[in-house]
This record gives sequence, C-alpha cells and structure tokens, in this order.
Amino acid sequence: MYEKIQHLSKELDSLTAATVQETEELRIKWLGKKGYITVLFDEFKTIAADQKRSLGQSLNTLKNAAQEKIQVLRHATVQETVATSADYTPPGDPQLFGARHPISIVRNEIIEIFTRIGYTLAEGPEIEDDWHVFSALNFPPEHPARDMQDTFFVRQSDNAVVLRTHTSSVQVRVMESQRPPIRVICPGRVFRNEAVSARAHCIFHQVEGLYIDENVSFADLKQAVLYFAREMFGKETKIRLRPSYFPFTEPSAEVDVSCNICGGRGCNICKYTGWLEIMGCGMVDTNVLEANDIDSKKYTGFAFGMGIERVAMLKWQVRDLRLYFENDVRFLAQFTAVV
Ligand code: DAH
Repeated sequence: MYEKIQHLSKELDSLTAATVQETEELRIKWLGKKGYITVLFDEFKTIAADQKRSLGQSLNTLKNAAQEKIQVLRHATVQETVATSADYTPPGDPQLFGARHPISIVRNEIIEIFTRIGYTLAEGPEIEDDWHVFSALNFPPEHPARDMQDTFFVRQSDNAVVLRTHTSSVQVRVMESQRPPIRVICPGRVFRNEAVSARAHCIFHQVEGLYIDENVSFADLKQAVLYFAREMFGKETKIRLRPSYFPFTEPSAEVDVSCNICGGRGCNICKYTGWLEIMGCGMVDTNVLEANDIDSKKYTGFAFGMGIERVAMLKWQVRDLRLYFENDVRFLAQFTAVV
C-alpha cells in the first residue's frame, strides 16, 4: 500500500488539465466515490493496526495534495475558459419603438377635437384645378396668389392645374358633393413656391374647417374657435379676433390665442405681445356659396384654416420648419412618448 501511495503522489505531480471538464474528470478519477484515493481509504480499513499510523499519515497527505491539485487545476482552467470564450456572435438588433410624426400627432389631435363636436373628416386631391383652389373661392383673376411666385403650376392654361396652395379647395369639393347642413374638418398637405428656410417651406400642412347651415352666425364661429383653442392649448386659453381679409370669407378675421408659453405675460415666442397668431377664419362669402349652388339667402356658414406646423411649433417650441420634413430619427425619436 505504501508503494501505491508513493506512486500516486508522483503521478499527482504530473497531472494536467486543459479544460474545466478535464479537471472534473480528474477529480472523479482521484477523489470520486470510486476514485483512487477513496479506494485506498477502503483498503486502509483492512490494514494491520501497527501500520495504520504511518500509512494513515501518508494517505492523508496524498488526499490533501490531490484536493489541492484539483483546486489549482480548476482555477487555471476556469481562467482559461474566461480568457478564450469571447463571444463572436454579432450583437442583436435592438427593437426601437416607432413614433408618430409630430405633424401626424397634432393633425390627429385637431381632428379629434372637432369630431367631438360633430365635424366629419373630408379630404381632397393635392393636385387641383384653378377652379377649386381659386375661382370657386372668389379669388379675382388678377389675385397675386395665382402668381408663379406662390403657386406651383402643373399646367398653365386657362384652366390651370396646380398643386393646391391651401386646403380651402376641399371646401369647394365638399360643397359640390354635399348639401347643408355641412360640418367638415379637412386636413391635408399644401404647396407654395417659397424658398425653404427655418420659417418657410414649400410643403406644409393645413386643416380647414367648414360649417354651413341655416342661421350660422359669427358668434358660432367664435365659440367653435374658442372651444378648439381651449382643448388644444389648455382651459385658461383666451382668444382674440382681429379683422382681416380673405377672398372667400366676409367678414374675415385672424385668430390669436393667448401665449401658452408665458401665459400672456410676454416672451420671445409671442414677441412680447402675449398673443400668438393661430388661424384665419370668417363667414363664407355669399359668392362662394352661390358659386357652389348653395342658396345664400337660406344658408350661412363659417370657415377657418390653420397651419399644422404652426400648432406643432407652439406645442413643442420646435421653431425650425425644416425639421418636420427631414425625417432625422434624432428629432423624430423625441416624440416616442407622445401618443
Ligand atoms: N386658406 C387660408 C390660407 O391658406 C387660410 C384660411 C383663412 C382658411 C380663412 C379659411 C378661412 O377657411 O376662412 O392662408
């Protein structure tokens, strides 16, 4: 037995393992239930009493040495595994959450506000004829808006084809196909021949509203606009109407809302006036009603139109119009939290 112990302790010195797995196999082979050392301990029980003392010592020394050796090997192989186990699989693509475009968010909000008070959605084509964009809306033939400075012409002729310069053209489409009472909200993209800058763009979006019925008055218009302003900018919002001119409404007004940024005290957004211009509006001109075969003696109506980018700017203080069209994800991703 003594020789066996001698032999094993020599062998123990030369043990090597390359992996954690190999170390574990060695542990089982040496210290496991049927391992060399366990077997020796069984044998030890049968040894004569006078030899037990010295053999027991050598056996214990061997056992300790084996345990230590296994531990050293384990430590080394674990280190090795960590060092060589670099994960070469490419990282997964993180799933980014999409976001609605800020213009869509504001458009949907405007539509939602007006549908709550009975307006229905109407849409029309972006490529229009002169009649729907200008003539039926009481623009005189020499009106500067028809000029090439403002209008993109698809075809220039007596009945020109143009990219619509405003969504008021949808009013005309609705009056052609519906009889009063009419109550519609018309969002859409419009085009103007403008040099692109932070404050102007050749593409932008508008929402047009139209309400025609018997006995529709300017007071109704004012109330609808006030309701909208409060829903959109907050309950405390005030409105102010300034006389203005549009060919298709008479009388016409420009609507200002109290500045929601400074609360009306004055800041650089409202240019220290406390007011922000938000839309044009007015009573539908009798010429427009008649051009569309609506009896102007029986019916009256109001219309309003506003820029969606303008509302978005006031909502988020994004003051460079170009950002809305560049589709830079660093800009768009900022709206992920907004519904
Ligand atoms: N169409 C006008 C524009 O583009 C906005 C507008 C003003 C629309 C008054 C209206 C209105 O319906 O009544 O500037």
